[in-house]
Amino acid sequence: MDAKTLMEIAEKARKTAYAPYSKFKVGCALLAKSGKVYTGINIENASYSPTNCAERTAFFKAVSEGEREFESIAICGGMGEKADEICAPCGVCRQVMSEFCKGDFIVILGNSEKYETHTLSELLPLSFKLS
Ligand code: THU
Repeated sequence: MDAKTLMEIAEKARKTAYAPYSKFKVGCALLAKSGKVYTGINIENASYSPTNCAERTAFFKAVSEGEREFESIAICGGMGEKADEICAPCGVCRQVMSEFCKGDFIVILGNSEKYETHTLSELLPLSFKLS
C-alpha cells in the first residue's frame, strides 16, 4: 500500500478522535506485514493522564489481534478540520513502536496532500531494549 493511501485512511480515522480537552485530534493507520491496516485515534480522559495516543491505540488493537510485525504507519494530527501540521509521535509511542518494529519501520507524517517519510531509527536512535 502506498503512503498516500495509508494517510487517507489515517485522515478518515481522525474524524472519530476523542479529544474534548486539548481539541488536538490525531488519527493514524498502521500497516501490518500481514497486509491488514489497523486504525487508531487519541482518546482523552477528564483525568488527563489516562489519555491514550492514536499510535498506541493502533498498535494495541493490532497486537491484541495477534499481529507482531509491521511495515509502516501514517499519522495526521492538529487542531483544525484538516490536519495541516506535522504531528510527530511522542516519546512513549516511539518506545512502543520499538518494541515491535525494527529501525527500518516507516513513519509517514503530514496529510494526504503533503507528507514526509521517516524511519523509526531516525526518530528513536539508540532505543532501549532488554538484551
Ligand atoms: N497525541 C497523539 O495522539 N499522538 C501523538 O503522537 C502526540 C499526541 C494526542 C494526545 C492528546 O490527546 C493530544 O494529542 C494532545 O497532546
